[in-house]
Amino acid sequence: MTVPLHLHERAATPGDSPVAEPPETSHPAPPAVATHPAIQSSMRPDSVGCEPSSPLIRLDGIHFQYEGQPPLFQGLAFQLSAGEKVGIIGANGSGKTTFLLMLMGLVQPQRGTIEIFGRVRTRPADFEDLPGKIGLLFQDSDDQLFCPTVAEDVAFGPFNQGKSVAEVRQIVRRTLAELGLEGWENRITYRLSGGEKRLVALATVLAMDPQILLLDEPTTGLDPTASARVEASLARLPQAMIIVSHDRDLLERLCHRLLILQEGIFLPYPKEDARS
Ligand SMILES: Nc1ncnc2c1ncn2[C@@H]1O[C@H](COP(=O)(O)OP(=O)(O)OP(=O)(O)O)[C@@H](O)[C@H]1O
Ligand SMILES: [Mg+2]
Repeated sequence: MTVPLHLHERAATPGDSPVAEPPETSHPAPPAVATHPAIQSSMRPDSVGCEPSSPLIRLDGIHFQYEGQPPLFQGLAFQLSAGEKVGIIGANGSGKTTFLLMLMGLVQPQRGTIEIFGRVRTRPADFEDLPGKIGLLFQDSDDQLFCPTVAEDVAFGPFNQGKSVAEVRQIVRRTLAELGLEGWENRITYRLSGGEKRLVALATVLAMDPQILLLDEPTTGLDPTASARVEASLARLPQAMIIVSHDRDLLERLCHRLLILQEGIFLPYPKEDARS
């Protein structure tokens, strides 16, 4: 999956600030240019203007192909209701990551309808209110993390949601603890291992307390203990979520519904007990 170039821009590059300031003494201001669409929000995720009974997300008749590539989505339809956890599986290259990017407005379908929080979204500008309300965990953690320290990365989203310094401090501490990362505030992000980055990336998403979570392979690269902790956290969360994973067992345990992305559409994927 090639992520749009602008997502690779980093507010700080490795080596810019080898020693991070602890958030307790002087909390870092968000980078002057917020380059990351998933956490660029300056809006609070409160009112979404959505009828309680209507789906949070509804896609219909989606056709999409990358330039010069064969069609990827061919009449794809999808729906996500409040509180629902939907698991998505599919072969490498079937379009799972592209599907999540499309929900954030990072790729646009050539045809079809995308309705989120009761509003039809067509142009990139129609998606501008979504970061913060929808949290996307990128497949590649390096697309998510761009601050020198863990605390700054986790604090960035809540700061942009207008939270106070005291609130942000508490959120950072609580979110890190939830994922078993107590005391990681001052660790240098770019020096973390792949699995460690995965956990911190997830922390940056959970810290915003979004109404919908889009999680692209949340447990990939995690050891069994960390994976179990992430699973327990996700199971506890009441939010609607879409979880992409190759770990079918995980999805079966966590999700209300499983879908397989195959030949450009979603098909229901029966749970193990229904298959046997
Ligand atoms: N920017 C791009 N330009 C052209 N083709 C792309 C681009 N991004 C992705 N693709 C292609 O689109 C297809 C779907 O990619 P995508 O990353 O959505 O698949 P995926 O289901 O997430 O795969 P994986 O399980 O490996 O993560 C792939 O064949 C990929 O090569
Ligand atoms: Mg992918």
